[in-house]
Parts: sequence; structure tokens; C-alpha cells
Amino acid sequence: MPAQPKESSLLPRERVFSGMRPTGRLHLGHLLGALPNWVKLQDDYDCFYCVADLHALTTRYDSVAGMKSDGIEMVADWIAAGIDPARSVIFRQSEVKEHSELALLLGMLVPVSWLTRTPSYKEMVTELGERVATFGFLGYPVLQTADIILYKAGRVPVGEDQLSHLELAREIVRRFNGLYGPVFPEPKALLTQTPRLLGLDGRKMSKSYGNTIDIAEDPESIRKKISSMFTDPARQRLKDPGHPDKCNVFSYHQFFDAPEAELDEIDSGCRTATIGCTECKGRLADRILARLGPIREKREALLLEPGRIEAILEDGRQRAQVVATEVLDEACKAIGIE
Ligand code: TRP
Ligand code: SF4
Repeated sequence: MPAQPKESSLLPRERVFSGMRPTGRLHLGHLLGALPNWVKLQDDYDCFYCVADLHALTTRYDSVAGMKSDGIEMVADWIAAGIDPARSVIFRQSEVKEHSELALLLGMLVPVSWLTRTPSYKEMVTELGERVATFGFLGYPVLQTADIILYKAGRVPVGEDQLSHLELAREIVRRFNGLYGPVFPEPKALLTQTPRLLGLDGRKMSKSYGNTIDIAEDPESIRKKISSMFTDPARQRLKDPGHPDKCNVFSYHQFFDAPEAELDEIDSGCRTATIGCTECKGRLADRILARLGPIREKREALLLEPGRIEAILEDGRQRAQVVATEVLDEACKAIGIE
């Protein structure tokens, strides 16, 4: 039975909107970062969680193969991690055409200079070059603003990297409301406290660095990856004392909720060279596999039933569409193009 909202109230609940680009399977960083937040928000808000495939197109317009299955895999991860499709609206951005129309309308009033000064824009163009020097990519934050305000969402859970986009969204809303009347609320960021979980090699965790573990990864592969994690470089041999505070494996134990007593044991064992890295990593693998087990089962059950995720996305599309139609209509009326 789907869980009931904490308290039933006559007031409609505030809406939350967030999205992720379909890049395939999610990794441990998502499992400890965005997802638990999204799950919790379901208790207090009406949540709209969107597969941002149009946003994905801004950078993968030339490699579109597999985008649909990437979205399905991602939604399977969401649901397995606790997003409840009975309570939250899970849908594909491209299937609710109002996102595109509202983005176009907002584009009329957004100065290009607001977009070129966005830190992520400058960074990405430097990093990815001419490939992303497109009209669509420049408009990324405009589309993101349209996503949020199409549902009049008041709260947007985002990571730190998205804060400038949200500030821009608020500016766009103020400009729209100033020109046409108070149609949209200014969305507020709900800053997600993401744990500083580094990649397996100690660099920033990123799929493009190949230093991640997927939520759905098979156990053997997970063990292998953990066994080759970087540790304290001072510990070359078993008899060398180590520094857990400088070791990524130890941080992982902490992030995956090792009990205090075991952390103390590893800490002193490492410092006195009485526990080896191989054992320490073996325990970490057990810990992570135990955490992922139930999620993997739920995921497999979901994917086993053909069309199950598509049906969830279709249900979400319909529920999103109701709000999107109404709000876009109101925006068009305010502009005078209804
Ligand atoms: N840009 C976000 C990301 O890549 C995804 C996204 C699209 C989003 N639309 C959104 C996030 C609206 C928050 C709100 O992570
Ligand atoms: Fe790191 Fe554990 Fe090895 Fe110590 S024993 S260096 S904490 S892997």
C-alpha cells in the first residue's frame, strides 16, 4: 500500500520539481546524495521528478542512441531507491510539450548576457568546445526555468552546482511577472547536502572519469572495483602503519554507516598495522553489497515486468499534463496570446 502523506490537510501542498538528465544508470554518489532527499521530500510536498531528456539533448544531440533506455534505467534506480510513483509524478520532459513552449516564451525576455555569464556555461564551452556552442545549450537554464515554473514549484532540490541556475530562474520569473503580471512564484533552492564521496581513485566522482560504482552494478564487479581502490599511499606493506583519515576506503566506511565500534576498530587497526587493506576493503564491499541488495532486487523486479516503467512514465505524463496545460494557459493569457 502506498504510504499516506503525514497529515491530510485542506491546503494544497507546495510543489517540488527536480530532474536529472538521462545518462544511464545512477551511481553511489546519487544514492547518498540527491536520491535520499528526493525520497524524503515526498512526505511533505507534491513532487514532480522529470527525466530531463531535452536537457540531455543539449549535449548529446549527436549521440542520441540509447537515450530512451538510459531514461528507463534511471527511473528504475529512482524507484528502487524509494521514489514512489503513486505519490510522485515521474515523467519524461519531452512528452509534455508545454516545457518547450514555455521555454520559447521565456526566451523572448531573457537577455543573452544573462546566459553567457552563467559559470556552468563558460565552463562547459571551455571544456567541450564548439560542440556545445549551440543555441540550445545556451538556453539550458531557460528550459530549466520553464520546467520548474510550469508546475509553479516553490522548491527545487539541487546540488551546489545548480545554484546559479536557480538564481537565474528567479530573475527570469521576476522579469516575466514584472512585464505581464504575477503569474509565477519565485522558486527557492533546497540545497542538497551531498556527502563528499570521492571516486574510487580519489578524484571527484564522475561517470566520465570511470571512477564510479553503479547502484545496479553486479556484485562481482563491485568487489573488484573496491579491491582496487586507492588507499593511504603510506601503507605499501601490511606492516606499514596507515592513516585512516587520509584514506578514501575509510571515508566510504563512514558514508555507508559503519557502526562506531567498527570504525574505531578499523581506525586503530590501521594505525597499528594490525588490519590489512585487503581485509578492510573486503568489509567495505560486504557493507556496500548489503546496502545495495534490496535495491537491486526491487530494480530487477521492476524491469522484469515488460512495460512497467513505460506505464509509470505514461501515468506521470498524464498527471503532469493536467498542471502544465493549466499553467501554460495562464501564462499565455497574461502575455495576451491565448
Ligand atoms: N539540469 C539538471 C541536471 O542536469 C536537470 C534538470 C532539468 C533540473 N530540469 C531541472 C533540475 C529543473 C532541477 C530543476 O542535474
Ligand atoms: Fe585505508 Fe583500511 Fe588500508 Fe587503513 S586499512 S589504509 S583505512 S584501506
